[in-house]
Amino acid sequence: MKSIRNEKNLINKVTLLRLDLNVPLDHGKIKDTTRIDKILPTLNFLIKQKTKIIILSHIGRPNGKIVNELSLKPICEDLQKKLNQNVRLIKKNINEIKNKNFFHNFNEQILVLENIRFYAEEENDDYKFGSHIASLGDIYVNDAFSCSHREHASIHQISKFLPSFSGLQLDLEVRALKKITSEITKPITCIIGGSKISSKINIIKNLIPKLDNIIIVGGMANNFIENFGNNIGKSIKEKNCNQIVKEIISLSEKQSCKLIYPEDVLVSKDLNGSSEIKELGQINSNEMILDIGPKTINKIINIIDKSKTILWNGPAGYFENPNFANGSVEIAKKIIEKNKENKIFSVVGGGDTVSFLNNLNVVSSFNFVSTAGGAFLEYLEGKELPGITALS
Ligand code: 3PG
Repeated sequence: MKSIRNEKNLINKVTLLRLDLNVPLDHGKIKDTTRIDKILPTLNFLIKQKTKIIILSHIGRPNGKIVNELSLKPICEDLQKKLNQNVRLIKKNINEIKNKNFFHNFNEQILVLENIRFYAEEENDDYKFGSHIASLGDIYVNDAFSCSHREHASIHQISKFLPSFSGLQLDLEVRALKKITSEITKPITCIIGGSKISSKINIIKNLIPKLDNIIIVGGMANNFIENFGNNIGKSIKEKNCNQIVKEIISLSEKQSCKLIYPEDVLVSKDLNGSSEIKELGQINSNEMILDIGPKTINKIINIIDKSKTILWNGPAGYFENPNFANGSVEIAKKIIEKNKENKIFSVVGGGDTVSFLNNLNVVSSFNFVSTAGGAFLEYLEGKELPGITALS
């Protein structure tokens, strides 16, 4: 993997820079800017090198359609303020852009192409689309470690057509995760939560042999709770997962990896409601599970207490409503306490988890914070990430 850091003659070259600007948005307002702030060194480096920059990024999952709420406009505005220079959003259909000369004038340096996932070709890893985007630049830089597990056109296909480099943040994340995984101390506990169930449920099976404890919270836990014959009401869950859940349970028994899922939960009738503690088996059809309950919190705290390494990816509940933030808060508090005593090594990852910890102002209390969620877990699994392989 060649790093852009070591490249010299970049003056006036057009750099296609893939970033992960997939930040949490609330009605067009950015709720957490960590992913933007982390790539500023890369942008400043390229600005200093006097290269022209075309930023490629996705936000959310628009499924190949234009979704106005998932525009990169608020991100461009944030970048513009932070870089103190013009950052222009190009809304024109990418397929209709035919040449490199769409910088308005000699001084214009940074353009952003609108959400790359507005095009179905992106997620299909379309060869022609990859080649077309590549034709807009001279070199390609991937500084989106958190998307590098996706075999998508702007991460994978594009690198076939241009000299390709890793960005500064990607270098940093890969170096840190390499070190962490090679020097890891047992017992290792992985806490997996959040709402992106489909990306994570298949990863768990491969993580079992590497871990001592897997704690399943968040949306995915609902699949496990239901598997044991409990009604989960209106809670989110992944469809057609019964087989994989059973395989995970049986494999964890064989491999002596302790699998923990909620014993009690907090429910509400809607996302903005107040919380009620429920035992499993007491959940009504008009209720949804939105956090873990006190018994589960105690169990998790005991496991953290006995662990030497904690890997945490995905919040325990719907923390956006403070009534359902307690599970994640208590987990964070316990890890921080053990970290302060130097008794644990803690790694957290994922956009929502980092956003949650930023809200509590405790990010610096963890040993390593990765911007990546799914990519972080797949890296732990030992899988080759297509975006990284493409750079090699
Ligand atoms: C992430 O938030 O983990 C990355 O932006 C990838 O998003 P995805 O899971 O929608 O591919």
